[in-house]
Amino acid sequence: MKGIILAGGTGTRLYPITEGISKQLMPIYDKPMIYYPLSTLMSAGIRDILVITTPHDQENFKRLLKSGEDFGINISYAIQDSPRGLADAFIVGEDFIDGDSCCMILGDNIFYGNDFTKMLNEARINTQNGYATIFGYQVKDPERFGIMELDKEKNVISIEEKPEKPKSKFAVTGIYFYPEKVSEYAKKVKPSQRGEIEITTLNDMYLKENKLKASLLGSGFTWYDTGTFESELDAALMIRSIQNNKDKIVCCPEEIAYVNKWIDKNTLTKRAELMKKNAYGKYLYKIIEEDN
Ligand code: G1P
Repeated sequence: MKGIILAGGTGTRLYPITEGISKQLMPIYDKPMIYYPLSTLMSAGIRDILVITTPHDQENFKRLLKSGEDFGINISYAIQDSPRGLADAFIVGEDFIDGDSCCMILGDNIFYGNDFTKMLNEARINTQNGYATIFGYQVKDPERFGIMELDKEKNVISIEEKPEKPKSKFAVTGIYFYPEKVSEYAKKVKPSQRGEIEITTLNDMYLKENKLKASLLGSGFTWYDTGTFESELDAALMIRSIQNNKDKIVCCPEEIAYVNKWIDKNTLTKRAELMKKNAYGKYLYKIIEEDN
């Protein structure tokens, strides 16, 4: 299975902050925003990852993530010239996906909660059986999101992009799993009124073929779409508080890579050395020590 992080977009909602830097490179507390979706893909066991950015931001992403060797993964890069919509990721990434199944995650989405790795695995298995999977999360402002309507058995019965009259409070979060051939489906998506090829239209195609499953993230789960000043700060404070309470770093790609045996002690030690002056580096040293 392939993974895509969509980190394009002009980020105008966060101007002036994002006039000089890509949104997905900004910090969420102690790490760049993109570490969070990257860690999520890694937790799903995905090692071939495409990072899609704007043309002028690509260099900075490459400087940060290189070809993925620090995390034992293979990172490739592609450019999206203009924000043509989320489903465009599967057209930009067609050669990379190469007919495989694919998980796409938005570069500004943060997921943290119980059993998430298990849920990601289930979604992965769904793709092998020809099903797409979306993840729902109850929100107070459903007009801001893609919204799924569910029946009593929690099957999706409709899906709408930013509806004026939402049929439920379950937002479609920014992680999506698709079986093989998603690029072919994406090419059939007609642009919406705002001129974008919407992920919601793509999901609706799977729904109409009875090939769409939904997984619901419970109330104890944390999900942030960090697209506003408020949500970005809220997410940072939340991460700091979880990390302080648990003495654990949330979404630490080095840790996931080491636990999965994708990197060895040498690589991890080099990363720890690089950050030895702060808590992140000390945490990496602790992982090494506890493994001895
Ligand atoms: C996009 C999708 C929307 C989804 C949201 C999740 O919205 O279009 O369906 O609920 O991501 O983060 P955007 O954040 O681009 O407005």
